[in-house]
Amino acid sequence: MKIVRFIVAMLSVAAMTGCCDSNDKRCGDAVYSKQEAVIENILTRRSIRDYKEDPVSREEMGKILECGIYAPSAMNMQPWAVRVVDNKEFLDDVTAIAVKHNPKLAEQPGFRNFFRNAPTVAFIACPEESYSGEYDCGLLSENMMLAASSMGIGSCCLGSVVPVMYYEEAKPYLERLELPEGYKLLVGIAFGYPADDVVPTAPERDANKAYFVE
Ligand SMILES: Cc1cc2nc3c(=O)[nH]c(=O)nc-3n(C[C@H](O)[C@H](O)[C@H](O)COP(=O)(O)O)c2cc1C
Repeated sequence: MKIVRFIVAMLSVAAMTGCCDSNDKRCGDAVYSKQEAVIENILTRRSIRDYKEDPVSREEMGKILECGIYAPSAMNMQPWAVRVVDNKEFLDDVTAIAVKHNPKLAEQPGFRNFFRNAPTVAFIACPEESYSGEYDCGLLSENMMLAASSMGIGSCCLGSVVPVMYYEEAKPYLERLELPEGYKLLVGIAFGYPADDVVPTAPERDANKAYFVE
């Protein structure tokens, strides 16, 4: 009887730790390396601000989108609308509008487009009136950026695209996003393969903003 209870207890521990088979010695290693991979991915993701021209494949973007929509959301409301644009003409046209309003943009060395030269941009929108829409979209966005980073694809959140998309001249492009009624654009996210000379360093973090309370 004691031995049966022991086996049941061991199986429960294995289930709780995510270990599929306590006899499989590789199992513990696999759990450990998954943890390391996830933490390394989180700590090494950086905003990428220059990209190669090659577009991100739709297959890869599809996986990134899938990771996005698996983000948690309050009451699983999924209060987001995500539109991926990899149409160069669309991005170039919006760039021309942005440059018209701010000619200095085009003076940046190597400037190709207003989206940090990204060939692919995801536009993220949420309901104007929503309990947790912005928060949930933030979680979705980070899921997408972390997924991209794990696939060798760079990304950068671009708050700067929002006012441009609301310029009068950009109306046809905003309409092409077909956002649901009552939704507002929150952010754009640039995606692409990092340009060869990009070596991003992590901007300093303030560890004092997060601490234990006794
Ligand atoms: C909501 C939001 C808006 C942002 N907008 C811009 C932007 O318009 N242009 C830009 O270059 N970076 C933008 N960023 C990127 C931040 O500058 C960047 O995340 C921050 O400096 C930390 O660097 P890291 O992402 O490399 O860790 C934005 C980030 C967030 C979360």
